[in-house]
Amino acid sequence: MISKKMNGVINGQINAELYSSYLYLSMSTWFSERSLSGFASWMRAQAQEELYHSTKMLDYLLERGGSAEFEAIDKPQCSWSSPLEVIQETADHEAKVTGLINDLVDAALAERDHATNNFLQWFVAEQVEEEASVGEVVEKMKMIGDDSAGMFAMDLEMGKRVFTLPAE
Ligand SMILES: [Fe+2]
Ligand SMILES: [Fe+2]
Repeated sequence: MISKKMNGVINGQINAELYSSYLYLSMSTWFSERSLSGFASWMRAQAQEELYHSTKMLDYLLERGGSAEFEAIDKPQCSWSSPLEVIQETADHEAKVTGLINDLVDAALAERDHATNNFLQWFVAEQVEEEASVGEVVEKMKMIGDDSAGMFAMDLEMGKRVFTLPAE
């Protein structure tokens, strides 16, 4: 059975993952309102992925005999000044989440909860991938700058991403 303390920090992370999902859904909507449907769909996939992260954490808690208590989800930002700003904030947000996951690993190791540490390693690897993929988008957006043909092509490329539930 999971400790009360570990249960508490994972419970907090469920909320953080739901907040990420809410934030990306807000960003997706901002893109939709500006007819950037490729970016909107990329962000929608991102939101679905974060929702999946929250339920993965919840399922783990339940599997370990823990319990979850849902907290209110903070209101996400809903307006930005440019597509680059949205993508840059996504990158910053993911870096912050990586820090949160690292804190969870520290907590698991501190109490020698090897099962939780093992579970969390999936998220450690996921963060490496997330930071790399959004980092690449940031770099491409900087290359494009104010070039509308570039933005048009980038929107098409972003639209190719589809969310699929990862195999367990
Ligand atoms: Fe996540
Ligand atoms: Fe993420």
